Amino acid sequence: MKLYSSLAEWWPLLSHPDEYRDEAAYYWRLLCKHTRRPIESLLELGSGGGNNAFHIRRYAARRQSGRGATPNAPLRMTLTDASQAMLDVSRCLNPDCEHVQGDMRSLRLQRRFDAVFIQDAVMYMTTGDDLRRAIRTAWEHCAPDGVVLFAPDCTRETWSAGTSHGGHDGPAVAMRYLEWTWDPDPADSEYVVQFAFLMKMADGAVRVEHEQHRLGLFAEREWIEFLREAGFAACVEPGADEVDDVSRCFVGVRPA
Ligand SMILES: C[S@@+](CC[C@H](N)C(=O)[O-])C[C@H]1O[C@@H](n2cnc3c(N)ncnc32)[C@H](O)[C@@H]1O
Repeated sequence: MKLYSSLAEWWPLLSHPDEYRDEAAYYWRLLCKHTRRPIESLLELGSGGGNNAFHIRRYAARRQSGRGATPNAPLRMTLTDASQAMLDVSRCLNPDCEHVQGDMRSLRLQRRFDAVFIQDAVMYMTTGDDLRRAIRTAWEHCAPDGVVLFAPDCTRETWSAGTSHGGHDGPAVAMRYLEWTWDPDPADSEYVVQFAFLMKMADGAVRVEHEQHRLGLFAEREWIEFLREAGFAACVEPGADEVDDVSRCFVGVRPA
């Protein structure tokens, strides 16, 4: 996908880290609510430009220890993505994090983490088999009593066709995008997003790019079923009023 390769350097102007402040706080709260062990290590699959990671590390640093409790160790984050170009963007924002290139369906780091997190990147799982493989990767990397959190953009129940736009001005260049979504075949497990990207160069010239993305659509019942199949104790979290973009989150706890 061009967005995550030749256009990756534009990512911070398409999706600015500031936009993630509230939802990252919500994800961190959910992880802390459901885990049964202290979260000192966190693996993110499909971490992209690292916007969530940037905020989650700060929230983790601010966590309070109870009176008499051992102070929490700093959160160690490992950020993984299929795209080297997106990892390069994330390295600039999160220089202290470990970055590893890998596909969420097949990545095997041979170590376990207190928490595993996957946000919008999971939308690129367009078949039940793909989604099961990503959940299996989360299972393989989750420590006993640890937690996994999946935060898809939507489920079959919350999806709707629509159009949105956004983008930001940088000091020298600027970007705007249009995102147009529809479902060509409601009987299958995917829908399409047509993206138009407009990039304004330093000399005022504007470059235009178009790209289609195919994203996955699964019912809540399927999410829970796949998580349970993998071995997790699973539940759904309904989103929060203060976080507009988050519809449903799926949580799994790996039994001890
Ligand atoms: C919307 S971006 C993620 C942005 C991220 N949530 C952030 O905070 O910046 C989606 C990412 O999913 C990655 N991706 C897509 N398919 C993937 C796969 N099979 N395995 C790992 N990463 C994948 C893309 O390379 C891209 O970086």
